[in-house]
Amino acid sequence: MQAGNLKELYVQALQDMYSGECMLVEALPEMASNAEHADLKTAFDDHLEETKTQIKRLEGIFGELGQSPNGVKCAGIEALTKEGEAIMSAGPSNVRDAAMIAVAQRVEHYEIATYGSLCTYAELLDRRGDLDKLKETLSEEKEADGKLNSIAKEVVNPAAAA
Ligand SMILES: [Fe+2]
Repeated sequence: MQAGNLKELYVQALQDMYSGECMLVEALPEMASNAEHADLKTAFDDHLEETKTQIKRLEGIFGELGQSPNGVKCAGIEALTKEGEAIMSAGPSNVRDAAMIAVAQRVEHYEIATYGSLCTYAELLDRRGDLDKLKETLSEEKEADGKLNSIAKEVVNPAAAA
């Protein structure tokens, strides 16, 4: 669906991210249960809870806009969750953890880029309340990415290399 103006583009990008977050709520428990390292399991579990809150925030924004959260399917997150599933079905655990972190970080970077654009649109459209919510989520995604980075560097990648 082609957006005719910035407001339409904003709503479509919100719907895209909503669909992506819903896919992640499905994928994260599986990733947590397949993680070998306790730190990684905890990181996935914690991010699951954050993701549920992010979905609530998006629903709040849709409510304010008087728009439905549905209507767009996030092809990017769909592809990345498929990559995650393929990783989980093969390989030794330490290496698989390293590969799962890499795909999880690709997801985070995708989300950081999308929420970054959404913040810019919200600002231009003078949607202050939305902007506060989107900024909160953006900083959670950045923190989740940083946490994954530390776990990879300190624990998982050295174990995979051993
Ligand atoms: Fe998220």
